Amino acid sequence: MHPPLGTDVEYRPLPSSANGAYSSSHYNSGRLESPWMRKLSRRQWIAVLAASLILFALASHTVLPTRTSHVKEFEQVPFEDSRDPLDLPDTPRPVDDTPVVHVNPGSSKYYEAVLNGPPTAKFRGNPHNLRNDTRYLTSWINAGFTNDVLNIGNIVYLARMTDRIPVLPPLDSYIGHWSTPRPLSSVFDLARLSEALGFPVLEWSQVKDPESTEIDVLGCWNIWQVANLDAIAPREARNPRELYLDMSYTTAPANVKLIPGYVHDSHSSFWSLAPLAFHDMRAKALAQPEVQTSPAPQTGVSVPPDEQMLCYDYLFYTCVDEPFEYDNDVYPTWDVVLKHLHWTKEVERIGNEFLRKLLGVPDYEDTPPHITIHARHGDFQNWCPDADRQGCFTSMEAYSTRIAEIQQELMERKGINVTRVIMTSDEQDESWWDRVREMGWLRIDHEKENTIIEYGEWYPVLIDAYIQSASLGFIGTDRSTFSIVAKRRVKDWHDGAVRMVKWGTPDADNH
Ligand SMILES: *[C@@H]1O[C@H](CO)[C@@H](O)[C@H](O)[C@H]1NC(C)=O
Ligand SMILES: *[C@@H]1O[C@H](CO)[C@@H](O)[C@H](O)[C@H]1NC(C)=O
Repeated sequence: MHPPLGTDVEYRPLPSSANGAYSSSHYNSGRLESPWMRKLSRRQWIAVLAASLILFALASHTVLPTRTSHVKEFEQVPFEDSRDPLDLPDTPRPVDDTPVVHVNPGSSKYYEAVLNGPPTAKFRGNPHNLRNDTRYLTSWINAGFTNDVLNIGNIVYLARMTDRIPVLPPLDSYIGHWSTPRPLSSVFDLARLSEALGFPVLEWSQVKDPESTEIDVLGCWNIWQVANLDAIAPREARNPRELYLDMSYTTAPANVKLIPGYVHDSHSSFWSLAPLAFHDMRAKALAQPEVQTSPAPQTGVSVPPDEQMLCYDYLFYTCVDEPFEYDNDVYPTWDVVLKHLHWTKEVERIGNEFLRKLLGVPDYEDTPPHITIHARHGDFQNWCPDADRQGCFTSMEAYSTRIAEIQQELMERKGINVTRVIMTSDEQDESWWDRVREMGWLRIDHEKENTIIEYGEWYPVLIDAYIQSASLGFIGTDRSTFSIVAKRRVKDWHDGAVRMVKWGTPDADNH
């Protein structure tokens, strides 16, 4: 048995001394300046979009139902927080002493072109920070770290498609006990992403003052309830509450559901969501009988979906072609956006320090190349028959075979003999780690290194992800999104050698 794709919402590296932190069950109009878009006028662009839509509609009727029939929706862990949407927690939060970067340093000029100035108490009002000649797009995140990053990629990709400036929410998944909002720019280099894309990528903290408690009402499309037949409300998210936004949701037209009537999938295609960004097609959508606007809970105000700050409740389940396409060869969100989403200098510095210490490199030497394995266990064992973990998960022998393949490929392709192997895993069984040690592979021990105390709750995950991404060879676990993202980084950033291991039965990875 295989788990459905997208199950890797809760990857955490091996627990450290703050064990409890890991054992909890918490789930958890713009201008585009890229050359190919500059060539198209808005009218031409809409024509292209409309043509794609028709083509897509034709294609989806003939191909999709059979191709996707095996796809099973991954289990939604319910959002546990039943507080009033705008009632922020009053229990004190732990102090996160990592530096908080609100604005991308060194490129303020870039952002001035799409904002009036510094963030204001309300994003709309007087003064306000949105420019009257610029259109924006926003959406919320609500999963684990990796899936939130995949979601961010979709938000930016849809902004590019619709000629809008993306305004991204802070990261806020439960890494430890708390969902502490953390600026995306404290983990990823958004200035570099903006440069690569050719248009600015904004954060909400640049638009609305993060300290402000003044409420804005925002009209937003409710996609979730249309695409997910079991949903009875828009996708719940903490972001609007953190941003003091009172959301008035409008159900999207029925055609945003990719596979009509199919209960086991929640995807929409980019091509069905993009038209809502344009005045005439938005008006057409609003005229559909099933499209209804609900009042914002705090203020009781009903507003239609905002035309300037276009908003969709949740874009994780958005695809170009078919559900869960992030492991396909064709995955435009990766190639256009996420490939360019690199770590901040700070994450790189801490990750590299950690890596050099692990490899025992003296100060005067360069960091040697390494191979990283990501063995995703954790709740993947729920798919193991009879809880036979030994037979279900990849054996040390199978990993050895893969390591040898990677070493051979790197020797042939690059003439580099890579001998150092690092294991990353959320496995808690020490006897398994003993076998890792017997194989001669290195272990990242966040407990021993006091990672949480030194750097904060996010860093066990960030250091593992950094070390994976900095490898010349990578071996991941089939169906883990954490592995899939690491695999793509190693391939695209270093032209590295990558393999994914199959699992589920003792001979699953035989090949
Ligand atoms: C747009 O904003 C500029 C600068 O604030 C202002 O001068 C102009 O009058 C505004 N235009 C409209 C149509 O509101
Ligand atoms: C790679 O290096 C190891 C350790 O130094 C050595 O034992 C091995 O023979 C080398 N392999 C190749 C193909 O050069």
